[in-house]
Amino acid sequence: MAPFKQPGFYCSQNILKDFFYNKSMIQIIQADITTLRVDAIVNAANQTLLGGGGVDGAIHRAAGPQLLEACRNLGGCKTGEAKITSAYRLPCKYVIHTVGPVWYGGQSGEEDALKNCYMHALQLADDYRCASVAFPCISTGVYRFPKQRAAQIALRAIREVTPTLQNVQNVTLVCFSQEDEQIYNDLLNKKKGEGMNEIIKAMEQRRSIRQFKAELPRKEDLAQIIEAGLYAANGRGQQAALVIAVTNKELREKLVKANAEIGGWPDDFDPFYGAPAILIVLGNKACRTHLYDGSLVLGNMMLAAHSLGLGSIWIHRAKEEFEQETWKKLLADLGVTGEWEGIGHCAVGYIDGTAPQAAPRKDGRVFWVE
Ligand SMILES: Cc1cc2nc3c(=O)[nH]c(=O)nc-3n(C[C@H](O)[C@H](O)[C@H](O)COP(=O)(O)O)c2cc1C
Repeated sequence: MAPFKQPGFYCSQNILKDFFYNKSMIQIIQADITTLRVDAIVNAANQTLLGGGGVDGAIHRAAGPQLLEACRNLGGCKTGEAKITSAYRLPCKYVIHTVGPVWYGGQSGEEDALKNCYMHALQLADDYRCASVAFPCISTGVYRFPKQRAAQIALRAIREVTPTLQNVQNVTLVCFSQEDEQIYNDLLNKKKGEGMNEIIKAMEQRRSIRQFKAELPRKEDLAQIIEAGLYAANGRGQQAALVIAVTNKELREKLVKANAEIGGWPDDFDPFYGAPAILIVLGNKACRTHLYDGSLVLGNMMLAAHSLGLGSIWIHRAKEEFEQETWKKLLADLGVTGEWEGIGHCAVGYIDGTAPQAAPRKDGRVFWVE
């Protein structure tokens, strides 16, 4: 796909930072959004949709009074939602008005609301057959949303939704200041996404998740994760690991209790961080490599979960659990015979909040002998 450039863009240091995600391209520029000849620009509006300060005011000024007239007919807009109008005197075709959340410290659903702004605006653009859409940095002005967090959410939302769209090909994130542009560029550089294949990208981007939503992932997704685990390399081809998928709430609670007790934590601590699905991996002690085999199964499952948009984490103490009679009895009840060692749990669920960034990799851990 040819790089997407428009005459009249002002790009700081003449650098367009762009990268591909599936078939859509995201680019970061420093520009005045009202000058862009894209199909749709997104307005960071307030709930009245009757104009305001910042980018909202600039868009209304540049579009002329007809935009205000059109907005009056829309009856306002809720936070996180989006509505569309013509663009009147602006060089783009449409203005998509979305209302970002005011930042109250992050405990009031601000992150989800911001993500919804990007997702709903993109969906609306797609419905109106827009190929190119430009966003300002929503909520980061007087609404006080922390800029870096907002940029992470914007990128994640765009990545999540663009593969499902039919028409949107180019998404431009328009920064008003160099500081905003730098934040995006730093995030993109950290992700090193360019030119990397999807598997390696997933390996670098997967992180351990420690806050999950209660909603159970789809059974098909869990089955796919388990299958990915079962395809892991294994000593002498013996496939000496098995998986017990616990989605039953009662059994999950028992597991939480047992695991917390082994860990020495109080009863009210959930060592699985609220993850509703727990995939327990055990290794057959009759096979010398069972511990290594089971570890690879867990590694594959965490990557598979990530690739399906789910969060996961390896939770320990499965060994101690399956030394206890209660858990040995579970194996017997399931018809599993032989001697099995608990290797780990892959706790899986939808991520609640924002996935963490990877810690920098420690130096001095690679030795080449050439
Ligand atoms: C063998 C093993 C056991 C782990 N056990 C736990 C655990 O019991 N609780 C937990 O919160 N994280 C556990 N983790 C997750 C690690 O803390 C996590 O992988 C590490 O901090 C690196 O973070 P990252 O996975 O996001 O790169 C475990 C990871 C491994 C590989």
